[in-house]
Amino acid sequence: MNLNIAVLPGDGIGPEIVDQAMKAVKAVCEKYGHELTYKKGLVGAIAIDETGDPYPEETHALCMQSDAVLFGAIGSPKYDNNPSAKVRPEQGLLGMRKKLGLYANIRPVTTFPSLLHKSPLRADLVEGADFMCIRELTGGMYFGRPQGRSEDGNTAYDTCIYTREEVERIVRLAYQYAEKRRKKVTIVDKANVLATSRLWRQVSQEIEKEYPEVETEYMFVDNAAMRIIQWPKSFDVMVTENMFGDILTDEASVITGSLGMLPSASIGIHTSVFEPIHGSYPQAAGKNIANPLATILSAALMFEYAFNLMEEGKAIREAVTASMDANVVTEDIAEQGKAYSTSEVGDWIATFIVSQ
Ligand code: IPM
Ligand code: MG
Repeated sequence: MNLNIAVLPGDGIGPEIVDQAMKAVKAVCEKYGHELTYKKGLVGAIAIDETGDPYPEETHALCMQSDAVLFGAIGSPKYDNNPSAKVRPEQGLLGMRKKLGLYANIRPVTTFPSLLHKSPLRADLVEGADFMCIRELTGGMYFGRPQGRSEDGNTAYDTCIYTREEVERIVRLAYQYAEKRRKKVTIVDKANVLATSRLWRQVSQEIEKEYPEVETEYMFVDNAAMRIIQWPKSFDVMVTENMFGDILTDEASVITGSLGMLPSASIGIHTSVFEPIHGSYPQAAGKNIANPLATILSAALMFEYAFNLMEEGKAIREAVTASMDANVVTEDIAEQGKAYSTSEVGDWIATFIVSQ
């Protein structure tokens, strides 16, 4: 098969972790005889520095022409500490999601046996936890307008908007995944307060009837935040709006042992994007210490979701597990004094894939 990939490293640790993921991608292509074509594009703060635009037209064209996008991370303290900056790196990521029509962000939350002792929760609570958070990605407060400030600058506003169509397509997707899993959907909202959540609940109650074999549970977001740490094993597929999904998945990721472990797939109308759920970790940029596993696992999702190459995805996953079993891991999950560098982990995984 010929794989044609756009690679968008972005900011902070983005370039380092994407390099490691590409080593794994190349190893898999070599092993399974796929032809790989890839091209790098600019996005985020680096794109602003070089072109003035956080998601330049050229990058968008590259994404549109590719079969899949492998994405690193974006964000820079230069902008975080400057609330009045007119152009922000995050607009690059949001612009890309919107323009590619990536309405569903799939974030599998799985635990790793060798990492259980790193979880802030008791091992018996997290062991075997395995759920999928489906986050709506192109609606809600992230994109609702108006957004801004009053003329005197002392009042600010964001708007949360959802249409029936947006809710329907994401909730249906959740049921489709649940049908293939343990047949339970948890719909997370704040229907006791928000009008958009009441629309979510109404639409979900209609769709629920189409999937009688799937159990449906409705849960307020505050309760869901609590349940993730209290009883993570009770979830199978969780579906929620953009902002709630952003917050809940950061929370869910640390119960697995490290924020540096969880991948994601963003799918929708045009080319799918594969990216770690963590951010650009600017404090670690260029130090060769960041955990590349979330990005490497995102590459595994890319083989599975974008190319339907299941064995290839599995080969990457097994190599990641093997690296953890061999303790070839970065400092966030290593035992004291035994950390490997980002590139050492990437090299080890690529070598493992080819040699298996
Ligand atoms: C994520 C990130 C982004 C988001 C930021 C960088 C805009 O936190 O992908 O979860 O909030 O969606
Ligand atoms: Mg986030």
